[in-house]
Amino acid sequence: MDVRRRPAAAEEPKRPRPAAAAPGDLVLRPPNLGVVLAAMALFLAPFSYLAFVHYPLDADLRRSILICGAISLGGFFVVLRLIPVAARYLLRRGMFGKDINKKGLPMGEITVPESLGIVVGIVYLVIAILFQHFNFTADSIWLVEYNAALASVCFMILLGFIDDVLDIPWRVKLLLPTIAALPLLMAYAGGTSIIIPKPLASYVGVAVLELGWVYKLFMLLLAVFCTNSINIHAGLNGLEVGQTVVISAAVLIHNVMRIGSSKDLETQQAHAFSIYLLLPFLTTSLALLGFNWYPSSVFVGDTYTYFAGMTLAVVGILGHFSETLLLFFLPQVLNFLCSVPQLFHFVPCPRHRLPRFDTRTGLLTGTKDGNLVNIFLRMFGKCSEKSLCIRLLVFQALSCLFCFWLRYVLTGWYK
Ligand code: UD1
Ligand code: MG
Repeated sequence: MDVRRRPAAAEEPKRPRPAAAAPGDLVLRPPNLGVVLAAMALFLAPFSYLAFVHYPLDADLRRSILICGAISLGGFFVVLRLIPVAARYLLRRGMFGKDINKKGLPMGEITVPESLGIVVGIVYLVIAILFQHFNFTADSIWLVEYNAALASVCFMILLGFIDDVLDIPWRVKLLLPTIAALPLLMAYAGGTSIIIPKPLASYVGVAVLELGWVYKLFMLLLAVFCTNSINIHAGLNGLEVGQTVVISAAVLIHNVMRIGSSKDLETQQAHAFSIYLLLPFLTTSLALLGFNWYPSSVFVGDTYTYFAGMTLAVVGILGHFSETLLLFFLPQVLNFLCSVPQLFHFVPCPRHRLPRFDTRTGLLTGTKDGNLVNIFLRMFGKCSEKSLCIRLLVFQALSCLFCFWLRYVLTGWYK
C-alpha cells in the first residue's frame, strides 16, 4: 500500500501543501448488489434450511440463531452505508493502493481506498458485543471465552490496521497474530487433550492424549497460520473477501450439522458458539464484498485479512474443530506450501507476487512466483482477473465439499 508521506515539519513552509482531498471529493461506485445477493442466497440458504427445517433443533437455540441473524442483517446494512463514508476519510489520509492487475490502463492509475476491513471489524465487534445481552447470563461459562475471543479479534484488527498504516516488514508481520492471540491463550480454560484417531490409537497406546502447554502452542500456530495464509492468498479483486465468505459459510453448515447430529450438550454449545461468532462475520463481509468485487472500488487491507483469519481461528479453537477448519483451508495450505521457498527467501521474493497484465488483451499471465494465483494461470491458461478470482473461489468451494465428503466417509472409522 502507498501511504502519502507528510513533509517533515521543518520543510513545511518551503513546500506547497499537498492538496488534501476533502472528504466529500470521492464518489464511490455503488456496491455490486447482484453479486452480494446471489452470494447471500447461495451461502445462507443451506445453513438456514438445515437449522430451521432439516434438524429438529432446540427452540431456545433457534431463537438465539434468529436473534443473531437479525442483528447480523442489520450489520450488513450498516457496513453498506459506512464504507463510502470511511473510504473518503481513508483516502484523505493518504491510505490508498493502486490496482496492480490493471497497470497500464487508466483504471490502474486510480487511487483505491485501502483498509476498509476496519469498517467490517468495528461493526462486527459491536454486533458480537451486543449479542451477549440476548444470549449469555452473567454466570455463563462461555462468557469468559467469548470475551477473550473478541479481545483477540479486536487486537488483531488493531495490529492489521497498524500494518496498513506503517507497512510492516514481512517477517515482523508474522509475529502480529502471535501478540493478538494472547488474550485467547491466557483465558483458555477448556480441555488440552486430543482424541487420538482410532487407526493410530494402538500405536500411541492411549485413546485420549493430554497435551498441556503443547495444545496452547498448537492454538497459537493455528492463529498465525490462518491469518497469514489468508493474507498471502490475495491480490485479486474479490479474492480476500470471497475466500473468507466461502470458508465461513462452510463452517456454519458444519456447525449446524454437528449440533443436529450430536447428543453431547458441550459439543452442541461449542458449535452454537461458533455460529454466534460467524453469522455477523459472514453478513458484514458480504457487504464489503459488494464494494471489493471486480472492479474493486475499495481494497480490504491487511486489517481485513488478519481480522478474518483470527475470527476463523478463534471459532475453530473454541469450537474444537480445528482439524476440520484446516481441511476447509486446503487452498490456503497449498498456497502456503508453494510459497515456502519465497517466504523463507530460498528464492527471491518480490513485494507483490502478482501476475503480469497485458493491456492489449486485458488478460493476466502467470509469473514464476510460487502461489496459487500464478499456478492457476500457468495450469489453465491466461484469463481475466474476474475469471481467475471466480476459478479460485470455485476451487475453495470444491475443497469445502471435499472436506464434507471426507468427514462423511471417515466418521466412525477415524474417531
Ligand atoms: C501479500 C502478498 C503479495 C500480494 C499482496 C496482495 C506474499 C508474501 N505477499 O502481501 O504477494 O501481492 O498480498 O494483497 O505473498 N492489490 C491489488 N488488487 C487487489 C488487492 C490488492 O492490486 O485486488 C494491491 C494494491 O496495490 C494494494 C496492495 O495489493 O494496495 C495491498 O497489498 P498488501 O496487503 O499490503 O500486501 P501484503 O499483505 O504485504
Ligand atoms: Mg495483505
